[in-house]
Amino acid sequence: MNLRGLDKSRLPKHVAIIMDGNGRWAKLRGRSRTEGHRRGKASVRAVVEMSRKLGISYLSLYAFSIENWLRPKDEVHALMGLLEHYLVVEQPRMMRHGIRLLSIGDRTRLPASVLRTLGKTVKATSEKKGMTVLLALSYSGRDDIVRMVRKIAHKVKEGSYAVDEIDEETVSAHVETQSIPDPDLLIRTSGEMRISNFFLWQIAYTELYITPTLWPDFREAEYLQALLEFQRRRRRFGLTDEQLAPAAASTETGEHQDHP
Ligand code: FPP
Repeated sequence: MNLRGLDKSRLPKHVAIIMDGNGRWAKLRGRSRTEGHRRGKASVRAVVEMSRKLGISYLSLYAFSIENWLRPKDEVHALMGLLEHYLVVEQPRMMRHGIRLLSIGDRTRLPASVLRTLGKTVKATSEKKGMTVLLALSYSGRDDIVRMVRKIAHKVKEGSYAVDEIDEETVSAHVETQSIPDPDLLIRTSGEMRISNFFLWQIAYTELYITPTLWPDFREAEYLQALLEFQRRRRRFGLTDEQLAPAAASTETGEHQDHP
């Protein structure tokens, strides 16, 4: 893979991906939706491997939303099967490449065999330090927030927190991502301009990259484009250009941006 133009010292630490378009990919080719998901699984492998090679520390993949439980039974069944197969096949590879797997979401709804396999992979890879893959399964951002509120409310009730002590740090520590830094880059494939209940709290200052490419076609070259675009962005976190780089900004002519 030719990584020309990519500045290895300015990579995102955490990339999150909304993997969308498997169904459309299949429909365009007259294939079953399951075939689209199967192809999508190969894209998962491609982005995991490339992230690991580049040294990206965290990769979050929105694999199954809470809303996805409402899809036809056959499709849910096929997706759960693909997921389990992925975990079985990829576990040795994760071990070899130093990848730690974590999952977020409402695991209680997962079929018992998926839960068992997931538990095994999470345990087997728990000491790996090369990269963390965060699989969002039966996840939704609002559900994450509701559960965070409940956890904090219980602690207040038990007396371990005073209400006025609750701040942004407290909230971040009680959403499912906990100590994982917020995503720097959120990629969405297949062109829809929405977040679809993925990370909500966590993406306050995340750079968004939306591509019309369908997920099964999103491979190394597409990922590289997203990373290059990320490196062209100027992240200001609500500050002005002058505050971020006073010397450079003072040489610019007239342009003043003080909005977020
Ligand atoms: C969206 O496509 C994708 C999903 C609902 C699931 C993502 C699943 C995979 C990539 C395969 C297995 C996952 C792992 C982690 C191995 P869609 O069906 O919503 O596509 P559409 O919008 O075109 O119908």
